Amino acid sequence: MNFLVCGGAGFIGSAFIRHLQNHNSKIINLDLLTIGSNPENLKNLENKNYQFIKDDIRNGDTLNHLVREVDVVVNFAAESHVDRSIANPKPFIETNILGTYSILEAIRKHEKMFIHVSTDEIYGDAEEQSSFDEDSQINPSNPYAATKAAADHLVASYYRTYGIKCITTRCTNNFGPYQFPEKLIPKTIIRSIKNLKVPLYGNGQQIRSWIHVYDHVHAIESLVSKGKSGEVYNITAYNEINNKIIVEKILDILEKSYDMIEYVKDRPGHDKRYSIDSSKIQKEIGWKPQYQFDDALEETVNWYCENKEWWEPLIDDKTLHPQPWTLNWK
Ligand SMILES: NC(=O)c1ccc[n+]([C@@H]2O[C@H](COP(=O)([O-])OP(=O)(O)OC[C@H]3O[C@@H](n4cnc5c(N)ncnc54)[C@H](O)[C@@H]3O)[C@@H](O)[C@H]2O)c1
Repeated sequence: MNFLVCGGAGFIGSAFIRHLQNHNSKIINLDLLTIGSNPENLKNLENKNYQFIKDDIRNGDTLNHLVREVDVVVNFAAESHVDRSIANPKPFIETNILGTYSILEAIRKHEKMFIHVSTDEIYGDAEEQSSFDEDSQINPSNPYAATKAAADHLVASYYRTYGIKCITTRCTNNFGPYQFPEKLIPKTIIRSIKNLKVPLYGNGQQIRSWIHVYDHVHAIESLVSKGKSGEVYNITAYNEINNKIIVEKILDILEKSYDMIEYVKDRPGHDKRYSIDSSKIQKEIGWKPQYQFDDALEETVNWYCENKEWWEPLIDDKTLHPQPWTLNWK
């Protein structure tokens, strides 16, 4: 089976490509190399059938040409940081909505399979004790989540109207190696290593459900072969933990004091809790997460300690800023 992976130079897309590298598949990685990407994520790739193309998923001519050559398109290409979407929603609208539209047009024309990688954030806040399943109402709270939700609707409409082959996945917060330093876990690790104050938004009680990135990409691979077209699948490892505890766990691993925590003004529109139920993928596909949270977090912290040459070139005052939504993002 041959793949077009869009956004394969980012955190999850590169993990997917590394995961596929021992398969006998042709892999084309189409990535514009915007903020969040890093070709170094794929430096040691051994797949001889791998090809990288730098271009925009909104370029319909490129997509037409590439989609014809493969069996499946998996789209990870996105503007992915909530804080930047609050400062400037425009690139999110352009890539996450218009980019998905452009892929859908090529999928429709060439009748190939589309895996649309979405997020649990499209459901918005979950009430205490309740979790969203795939039929729950979509209720996004920030511009990032709203553009992802719009893309989900577009995919569903192309399935119903044109009968395209497609699957939508909605995963919870990922962590693991090669995650861009602007996100909570790498930012906390890197700021702690550098003995900088570690920012916590508001009271730090916001709950996220964490999954290791390799569990996520394994779920996507399982859906490529066993998923049912037209369906949505939630993906979670049921590790619901608040941000304060995550930060404290990282400080414990690094043997740093909790005095390094600095409470800063909360992110506008901040969701209090994300919670989804992924019994559908477990029952229908047989996928279940393999990573145990505390061990995987420690491995991830150790990876950042041992791979400073990977993240040092990526950090500046903007990537490590305590409140990125207050900055001017073009
Ligand atoms: N990170 C998470 O915790 C998480 C959780 C659930 C779902 N997701 C979804 O998974 C996908 C990947 O997330 P990630 O964390 O790897 O993001 P990322 O920001 O690390 O990677 C996104 C990649 O897309 C590329 N890109 C951006 N705009 C592009 C364009 N117009 N054309 C071509 N390439 C473009 C970037 O260069 C980058 O390599 C996103 O759709 C995101 O919504 C992420």
